[in-house]
Amino acid sequence: MSRSHSETYARSSSDPAGFWLEAAAGIDWDTVPETAIDDSAAPIYRWYPDGMLNICHNALDRHVQAGRGDATALAYDSAMLGIRHSYSYAELLHEVATFAEVLAARGIGKGNRVLIYLPMIPQAVIAMLACARIGAVHSVVFGGFAPKELAARIDDATPAAIITATGGMEPARRVEYLPAVATALDLATHRVPDVIVGHRDGFTHATADFADTDTTWLDWDALVATAVPAAAVPVRSTDPLYVLYTSGTTGSPKGVVRDTGSYAVAMNWSMENIYGVGAGDTMFTASDVGWVVGHSYIVYGPLIAEATTVLYEGKPVGTPDAGAFWRIIEDHKVDVLFTAPTALRAIRKADPEAELLADHVISTLRALFVAGERLDPDAFTWAGEKLGVPVIDNWWQTETGWPIAANPLGLEPLPIKPGSPTVPVPGFRVAILDGFGTPVPAGTEGNIGIELPLPPGTLCTLWGNDERFISTYLEQFPGYYATGDSGYLDHDGYLFVMGRTDDVINVSGHRISTGALEQVLSSHRHVAECAVIGLADALTGQRPSGYVVLKSGAQISEEELRAELVAMVRDQIGPVADFREVRVVEALPKTRSGKILRKTMREIADGRPYVVPSTIEDPAVVEALLPFLRPGA
Ligand code: COA
Ligand code: AMP
Repeated sequence: MSRSHSETYARSSSDPAGFWLEAAAGIDWDTVPETAIDDSAAPIYRWYPDGMLNICHNALDRHVQAGRGDATALAYDSAMLGIRHSYSYAELLHEVATFAEVLAARGIGKGNRVLIYLPMIPQAVIAMLACARIGAVHSVVFGGFAPKELAARIDDATPAAIITATGGMEPARRVEYLPAVATALDLATHRVPDVIVGHRDGFTHATADFADTDTTWLDWDALVATAVPAAAVPVRSTDPLYVLYTSGTTGSPKGVVRDTGSYAVAMNWSMENIYGVGAGDTMFTASDVGWVVGHSYIVYGPLIAEATTVLYEGKPVGTPDAGAFWRIIEDHKVDVLFTAPTALRAIRKADPEAELLADHVISTLRALFVAGERLDPDAFTWAGEKLGVPVIDNWWQTETGWPIAANPLGLEPLPIKPGSPTVPVPGFRVAILDGFGTPVPAGTEGNIGIELPLPPGTLCTLWGNDERFISTYLEQFPGYYATGDSGYLDHDGYLFVMGRTDDVINVSGHRISTGALEQVLSSHRHVAECAVIGLADALTGQRPSGYVVLKSGAQISEEELRAELVAMVRDQIGPVADFREVRVVEALPKTRSGKILRKTMREIADGRPYVVPSTIEDPAVVEALLPFLRPGA
């Protein structure tokens, strides 16, 4: 059988049902699916409607049953604590099955939601897989979000329990999780019956401090001490595995729903064909389980593929230095590293000549994959030269769960073009569309759409909100999923992704809604109106920049206002927004009907040709903003 990318891609397009039923054979099913896709509710499609399986069984049990129980499944490496601990497949299965029983004993089962708010410690992986084992739906929330964001997710997902720890470690501080959870519970309308807390030394608060609330606070260790391992429960392929919230253009986050069977198939297929990682290999994905990259390529992908996954609690720089990744590659004999371009830029900034590489043997490394934001050519060249391995950009989103475009290393390595994540991946029929949804010729930039149905592993809806799913993604270009990114396909079929078409920005590979930031800024007592846009940043890719018009008569200095707004954003969204920049301006560019011209501001900031609409109220306002938006231009 031929394994070229072009033939595989052609087959996935001409016979998607046959292609994906064949791919499903890589998964253990309780009921093997005979039907590939259910299109009866189009434009909402469901894969493998008649299949039954358990994804935790596929990630753990089946490898143990095949005699690979002694192989390392999870290698936890904490630069924060200076400790390492490895779990074999048999050990991880034991931990997961025992914790699954703890959840079951609290009455949690199929379809119940469980919110996970944990730092990068083994309990995060154990909790996710334990939910999957009993058919509960996990929703992991990144530790850098503030209680208000946590509360919004509690009210949307209405979880039966929250699993957390006493705290997380950041280089400069310890982050107490329990007060944050308690505040979120106070803010939320939904009452969460149980909070299960993993104890970590060195934090001020413990479960006992919250005993008088109307939630039961329980200790992880005490619960597992008496539990016996639970069996994996078969669920329908179409049953939800997790909800992962991501920023949209409004302040309210979108709960991306991933189902079980199609995700298992996509993970298995992508590990082999994109990442080229299989049994016995070691993958180090330097992200966080709070993001989609962490879900797919720290947890589910490597474990389904019977590889070893490295769970790293630390930063690329400063913990202790810019050689942290190289040290991990050496210590864990890493075959494939996956990170965000920001991490590479941070390392390059701290150690421009990568001198710290000389202290480590990284000869096991075969490839570096990067995703999460645009890979700038400088970072691409630097990493390729210093590491001497292919640097492979892959473009995807929380919604898609796995790469839309990549260099399919495992299938057929293709020549790399800097600035391009290479070609559409089999299953993703990418089209560049004009504003009316008509495909444009090669070389022309437009909206990136993906022809429906999307392949397995992609979002099936937004949690409890099919209407929002359809109106956000499927209505703009009928027949296509709208990615919200713009770009072009060149004459060789290579995709170039240019940036977002909406108000979402990308800060250090984290997706942040400028709409949500504006909501916070406009609630300040002295702010009349505001706009937040992303400015290009040499380290973080983009940084949020706020433009604020004061109410008349407001008595506050720019510095004072900045400090207050920065504190408000940290408090209401979280430190992850990395919001630091505020400019007080006389006016914002607006149309005569009062709409703020954010798009024009973005175009100016991006250095693109910009058009000032004829409906603008006062063209001089744009002139006044130019020095801020494009300094030196
Ligand atoms: N819990 C609590 N706070 C967190 C957090 C967490 N899990 N993660 C980040 N934060 C905080 C940081 O402490 C920092 O707070 P501060 O303003 O008080 O310093 C703030 O959020 C911004 O964090 P970060 O973007 O991580 O900045 P940094 O200066 O700590 O580190 C980099 C800079 C480049 C090292 C870091 O951004 C990085 O590793 N980027 C790679 C991004 C990545 O992996 N993205 C995943 C998508 S694939
Ligand atoms: P997230 O859902 O947080 O993973 O963010 C997805 C968004 O990040 C995409 O819509 C893109 O705008 C951007 N993005 C992710 N990967 C890449 C990439 N390889 N190149 C360019 N942009 C990317």
